[in-house]
Amino acid sequence: MHTVSRQLMIAPSLLSADFARLADEANAVPGADWLHVDVMDGHFVPNLTLGLPVVQSLMKYTDIPVDCHLMIDNPDRWAIGYAEAGSYNVTVHAEAAQDPVKLAKNLRAAGARAGLSVKPKTPLEPWVEVLRHYDTLLVMSVEPGFGGQSFIPEVLDKVRTARRLVDTGHLTVLVEIDGGINADTIEAAAEAGVDCFVAGSAVYGAEDPALAVESLRDQARACGSW
Ligand code: DX5
Ligand code: ZN
Repeated sequence: MHTVSRQLMIAPSLLSADFARLADEANAVPGADWLHVDVMDGHFVPNLTLGLPVVQSLMKYTDIPVDCHLMIDNPDRWAIGYAEAGSYNVTVHAEAAQDPVKLAKNLRAAGARAGLSVKPKTPLEPWVEVLRHYDTLLVMSVEPGFGGQSFIPEVLDKVRTARRLVDTGHLTVLVEIDGGINADTIEAAAEAGVDCFVAGSAVYGAEDPALAVESLRDQARACGSW
């Protein structure tokens, strides 16, 4: 089997940062590959965070590529604004999108990478064809909505399937995982085939967030086939 080279990426989630000091918190993780921004609308998930004006402001204070994770209803209408604002990657939920193929095309046309996310109980198989139009697959390893929850190991089956589809040339997505990633769980995720690790509480709950990013990276590097 021809194995496609993987890129090890750490994406700190600002959900666990101090929302009144977002620019400082972004600058506290200079080694981050992406800055993960969780947009929640209080409908798709039972929590409310921030929206486009905050993302637009944040962009002025960081050079780190912004990875917007939209946990919102009707992403077909609202996701494009995050791409036009200059997000590097915009991820929408498979469970919320009406026309995910058209949505991916629109996001790419606006200059962003397009990501598709699946909740822990959402199977991967029905989305494989759609994922041919996407750049990123975000596998949720907790129920979306809140930081600091426990990792659901069963989702690693989807990671293994996605890794195989990428390694065999059927998909070209970057495999991202989100939820409960910390020193105890990152190695299993790396072994299963994740490229990009989102970590909220494990980074911003640490005394030194920059150091936490590097120690997660070192742990993952020791486990995956990079
Ligand atoms: C949860 C969010 C995550 C969250 C992860 O719905 O999508 O990005 O910040 O937080 P931790 O890493 O603490 O599980
Ligand atoms: Zn997220």
